[in-house]
Amino acid sequence: MAKNQRKIKIVNIVGARPNFIKIAPIINELNKVKKFSHILIHTGQHFDYEMSSLFFKQLKIKQPEIYLGIGSGSQAVQTAKIMIALEKVLMELKPDLVNVVGDVNSTLAAAIVSSKLGIPLAHIEAGLRSRDMRMPEEINRLVTDRLADYLFTTSADADVNLKAEGVPKKKIFLAGNVMIDTLRALKPVADKLSAYKDYGLKKKNYVLVTLHRPSNVESKTNLKLILSSLETISRKIPIIFPVHPRTFKKIKLFGLTAFLSKPNFTITKPLGYLENLSLLSNSKFVITDSGGIQEETTALNIPCLTLRENTERPITVTEGSNTVIGLDMDFLFKCVNRIMNNKYKKGSIPKYWDGKAAYRIVKKLSQILN
Ligand code: UD1
Repeated sequence: MAKNQRKIKIVNIVGARPNFIKIAPIINELNKVKKFSHILIHTGQHFDYEMSSLFFKQLKIKQPEIYLGIGSGSQAVQTAKIMIALEKVLMELKPDLVNVVGDVNSTLAAAIVSSKLGIPLAHIEAGLRSRDMRMPEEINRLVTDRLADYLFTTSADADVNLKAEGVPKKKIFLAGNVMIDTLRALKPVADKLSAYKDYGLKKKNYVLVTLHRPSNVESKTNLKLILSSLETISRKIPIIFPVHPRTFKKIKLFGLTAFLSKPNFTITKPLGYLENLSLLSNSKFVITDSGGIQEETTALNIPCLTLRENTERPITVTEGSNTVIGLDMDFLFKCVNRIMNNKYKKGSIPKYWDGKAAYRIVKKLSQILN
């Protein structure tokens, strides 16, 4: 590009733990394109060291140029606070494009503000649908995709969803999975950790559990059912359970802390990216309600039992190593037995989950933005 030519200004907006994992490879690729300048905004939706700074450190993401410091709140309060703060910033920055990733409240807030200001919007990880409108993320996904100008998808089923909703084909780009880009890039580093040893566990002889969905942890009945089922499983195989801040608050509030001190149960704070990846890779299987972990286990071919009624990531079930369990504990125990007896299905890796999704996305942006 000519020396004095103005660079194309891209603003990347992140707020919560899974966003950080997804934006890291995008920033790396943007750094390689001379005509782009880019600014990182962190809304502050996640703010604890373990939920935010630790990820920036381990993923080697630059410090955000702008930190909004919004913090927690109800769905509306959190989204509204982000919108108010972001509008002012984006009006000053006047970017040529805003990039949002995933489906968290920061994604939705940024999408609404950008499109109302007339700033072109790219959504990375578009088109996923659980069809469960009780999930805040489903609302975030629907609205963000409706507003986005460029929709980058992780798998072909997402393209089908978008087309069925009337999104013109020319806006949709099947690019692959940026979360798996990060996994592939950092797996060799995580492999050196053998984090299971720090907890006195044995390779391929423990279960990694994560739980944070409101439907599981905000109902005492459901949370108790899950914890007592985990206790049953822990009699066969040790469990390690890094506890999300919300889940921890609810366990205390509902008087269920006794479950956490059972033998064969290891409880930790939320883990950094590398420790988590190390524990995932060496586990026998995973029990989770996370979206990202369904994908990461598929990429690693580790059995994943998902405590949700549905998934917006069906490819992890049809091609990958995931099974949707809901709260059917008989089915959970059946699947655990299959895994323990090495009779569980063997998954395969979906197309474009190859570590090059961010490269494809930035290449496309480079063609579009001139
Ligand atoms: C958010 C995303 C979810 C994603 C998850 C990953 C939405 C609607 N949900 O859920 O899709 O899977 O992040 O973790 O955006 N808290 C802290 N410290 C923190 C962050 C949160 O204590 O650093 C506590 C607060 O009590 C807060 C609660 O956790 O109220 C929930 O945080 P919030 O950002 O609202 O949603 P998550 O459940 O983390």
